[in-house]
Amino acid sequence: MRKLSGKIDGQEYAVLIGQNMDSERKHYFEEFSDRILFSSPKLPPAEIQRLKVEFGNKNVVLTDDGESCKSLANYSLLINELLGRGFPRNGMMSYSGGGTLGDLVGFVSSTYKRGTRFSAIPTTLLAQVDSSIGGKNGLNVASFKNSIGTFHLPEAIFCDSAFLSKGVMRDGLSEVIKYGMINDPKILDSLRGHRWDDILDDPDLILSLVERSVRTKMAIVEKDFRDTKGVRAQLNFGHTVGHALESVSGNSLSHGQAVCTGMIIESRMSELEEISERGTASSLVGIFGDLGIDVPDVSAYSLDSMVNFVLNDKKLSAGEIRIPVPVRPGFMASLSLTPERFKKILSKAIGG
Ligand SMILES: NC(=O)c1ccc[n+]([C@@H]2O[C@H](COP(=O)([O-])OP(=O)(O)OC[C@H]3O[C@@H](n4cnc5c(N)ncnc54)[C@H](O)[C@@H]3O)[C@@H](O)[C@H]2O)c1
Repeated sequence: MRKLSGKIDGQEYAVLIGQNMDSERKHYFEEFSDRILFSSPKLPPAEIQRLKVEFGNKNVVLTDDGESCKSLANYSLLINELLGRGFPRNGMMSYSGGGTLGDLVGFVSSTYKRGTRFSAIPTTLLAQVDSSIGGKNGLNVASFKNSIGTFHLPEAIFCDSAFLSKGVMRDGLSEVIKYGMINDPKILDSLRGHRWDDILDDPDLILSLVERSVRTKMAIVEKDFRDTKGVRAQLNFGHTVGHALESVSGNSLSHGQAVCTGMIIESRMSELEEISERGTASSLVGIFGDLGIDVPDVSAYSLDSMVNFVLNDKKLSAGEIRIPVPVRPGFMASLSLTPERFKKILSKAIGG
């Protein structure tokens, strides 16, 4: 097991990365006489059973996850569950599931009785390398994604590869590759020669990918926890165009597919503006191709709808849309374009 320790705003936290960390979790959670675990019912039954042994049967509540769980209705449901149990403020609240359940339970934990202690057992690759790290949470209100949320840091995050299965790998790999592009090119090297669906067969590789990704995210978040200094913005590489693609596709593209395509398109845009080195976008196409991950063809989506989405989604800076882009893997810069120029370059990048 590897332990990464961090400190933000005076609060210490730890990320534990390993395989089969049952005894570590049991030992940690036993300390809290009042504890509750909200778990996804979609985990394999054997995993849910293991968690019930670790937490105590009565402390495990199965609750629906997926994007639709990030709602005010579900928020009320969980708050009522806690009130019904008389759950105290100094109790430990945790979740086992993907990023959607983490966002919901994180928000509940930060607001119930003005904030309880919080910890995480992320069970998708995306949740292990991204959403569980950094203390952001959020709910979708009136169909606006993450329109309300808080910063609430988990004290302990258990990234246990025993929970990962092929079905929860692909979306997370886009984020892993993103970390390789923004900070740690060794991630990209270590993926060479692997297909996405054989990564779990190599326990050392999966642990190293999670650890390197988590280290990058922790380092960035610790410099800019509340996302006010522009440092955390680097993590949005691929996400400006990616979020627009998710939206205009009516969510038929998964987050991972959208981010993978978004990184390629944004790199092409940046090459056209002579910020990214030539070949940056095609090297990304090569990485996804070698992994056996299809890059969706998005040329049929409406350009106007995409640009409108970006304009609604992002604050303009001095009248320009600003997006983080890699000059080369491991070295980031920023691309600033007026909305008109953005549309023109986006059109070329998608066509090319
Ligand atoms: N707070 C943040 O900083 C942050 C960062 C990135 C993404 N997010 C959020 O994360 C969410 C996406 O998270 P996600 O990709 O984990 O999706 P998800 O939570 O919807 O999980 C994907 C699916 O996998 C299932 N699942 C979870 N663990 C499983 C397991 N071990 N075995 C089998 N099935 C399992 C879930 O039930 C769900 O159906 C989005 O809502 C996004 O906004 C938040």
